[in-house]
Amino acid sequence: MFKNSVLCFATFILVLVSCNTSENKQPQKNSPMKNLFHDPHSFAIPSEAVITHLSWDAVVDFENKSIEGVARYTIDNKSGTDRILFDTRDLIIHKVTRGKEEKETSFELGEEKEFLGQALRVSITPETQYVNIYYKSKPEAAAVQWLTPQQTADKKHPYLFTQSQAILARTWIPIQDSPGIRFTYDAHVKVPSEMLSLMSASNPQEKNESGEYDYEMNQPIPAYLMALVIGDVVFRPIDERTGVYAEKSIIDAAHWEFEDMDEMLHAAEELYGPYRWDRYDVIVLPPSFPFGGMENPRLTFATPTILAGDRSLTSLIAHEMAHSWSGNLVTNATWNDFWLNEGFTTYFEKRIMEKVYGADYAKMLWALSYQDLQTDLKDLKEEGLWNDTKLKLDLEGRNPDDGMTNIAYDKGSLFLLHIERITGRETFDNFLKNYFSDNAFKSMTTEAFLEYLNEHLIKGDSMLARRINADAWIYQPGLPEDHPVVKTDRFEKVEESIKAWLGGTPAQDLPTDKWTTHEWLHFLRKMPEDLSKTQMSELDEAFHFTDSGNSEILAEWFQLAIEHQYEAAYPRLKAFLIQVGRRKFLKPLYEELAKTPEGLKMAREIYKDARPNYHSVSYETIDEILDWKPSEGQNN
Ligand code: BES
Ligand code: ZN
Repeated sequence: MFKNSVLCFATFILVLVSCNTSENKQPQKNSPMKNLFHDPHSFAIPSEAVITHLSWDAVVDFENKSIEGVARYTIDNKSGTDRILFDTRDLIIHKVTRGKEEKETSFELGEEKEFLGQALRVSITPETQYVNIYYKSKPEAAAVQWLTPQQTADKKHPYLFTQSQAILARTWIPIQDSPGIRFTYDAHVKVPSEMLSLMSASNPQEKNESGEYDYEMNQPIPAYLMALVIGDVVFRPIDERTGVYAEKSIIDAAHWEFEDMDEMLHAAEELYGPYRWDRYDVIVLPPSFPFGGMENPRLTFATPTILAGDRSLTSLIAHEMAHSWSGNLVTNATWNDFWLNEGFTTYFEKRIMEKVYGADYAKMLWALSYQDLQTDLKDLKEEGLWNDTKLKLDLEGRNPDDGMTNIAYDKGSLFLLHIERITGRETFDNFLKNYFSDNAFKSMTTEAFLEYLNEHLIKGDSMLARRINADAWIYQPGLPEDHPVVKTDRFEKVEESIKAWLGGTPAQDLPTDKWTTHEWLHFLRKMPEDLSKTQMSELDEAFHFTDSGNSEILAEWFQLAIEHQYEAAYPRLKAFLIQVGRRKFLKPLYEELAKTPEGLKMAREIYKDARPNYHSVSYETIDEILDWKPSEGQNN
């Protein structure tokens, strides 16, 4: 024990990270060490030496699926050490130099660790200010998806996009890939001249003949927000600081769908202070994009599956925009603090939607989020992952992607709604506004947030502290009993309609005229478990679910179709699974199929054709569900 403490203390002094003994894994709540944190998913040792600026110069080669170039870093050698550590995974390092004079220096790649990759140790001197890493990415770089023309909307040119969150930036740039390390960057990228190249930075709005583009990101960001997208895309402005990029054939639809974006941005600023990133643009990617959206600074990446034609799925834009405060400005220090990014953003998203579309609308979003939360709690309990229902996670030794569930979103936002209801809106809004400005461009641990909450909101009021009960919300699994519940008349009406239908009213006579997507989702989610095939057909005939152009409604309907073996929907289901790579849709559908032997057989047949269209984030999840060996089907 004594020896352990001495060791701990020595480690603390030397590298200023918390010690890895079982009883002292994290800085304790309320301890003076709370601002020191250890990121279990990065090899970097920020207390020794950190990057402060990246100057990236790269050539993108579509034929060989490689990104080749040099990452020039300005570093801060805090401790006068003789080494600096970077994260890499599947990178070929050609050479490393140091200083402006580019003196070649020795480097070493560490042992390969599953999903973490390899540490790159570069020799430096206490005076070293610049480190230049010459390297090339491999075709299998997990962040990057290389698309053939066939996989794009216009089908003429190839396409590339990256997805760096959570720990995939290291597969295309050697970097200190920890959300607790921030740096500014500039870049020079050369791409085939038929294509436009964009980054999470200042961006061009049209192609040039040279295919060479320059970028600047003057606000410090963490590595998971590094992003690159290359394709034959065009730009259309919405107002002077917002706009949309998309392939030609979908630009009109995208522009129309997102027309309220400027209003959303104003609403967000009214709530929590000025937008700090200059422009806010959105690019609509091909359907293989594995997420709904990704908050890459200045340029949100979005799935085309939110182009519903009626603006009903644009809360996703509000969500990614909200990350410009919660996440991009005040950033979770490690992936264990993921709820600080997503819980705050999900709360903020609903506040933006309320401001732009009204309280009734926002209530439906809250109610759907609550349903998602109940489903997640049930699933995680059944899977033996009850500890993952805590807001503060313990992902050490695990792939962060496995533990970063919807709990962070739905329980996290409900916790903030709970505080809002206790303190009143005005007080809570003021608190949040200050939280964002006081901590701008910094990283935040859960413990530092709690201290901020104590200092600026609770202020010694023990009664208030008891009512908020932060400890239970954050460190205990499940949901505290006194959690808020959001009721909406509109969903109650939907439930009345379901009752009427089950009582004999024909489906087409139900009063569904004014229903929005959200009411339809509630309708489908509340269907009884024992629907007959005749009932499924009646619903389909009356409401044309199988032919719906709305991806959320379709996915919910397919879920029912699989459960009730409603085969009329299968051809469309198959087409959907082949075309769309968004993991949130794929995962529950493949899981539902895998529940029966015939379903599993069908799923595996579809997957053979679908897998080549998926990004690694999605196929890694589905491989596991279908117990798929990468050698099967000879793809990817
Ligand atoms: N930052 C997330 C996406 C993400 C999370 C990528 C974890 C990698 C690891 C993004 O902001 C997000 O939450 N997207 C959601 C949309 C949202 C409306 C809930 C999605 O993609 O579904
Ligand atoms: Zn998010």
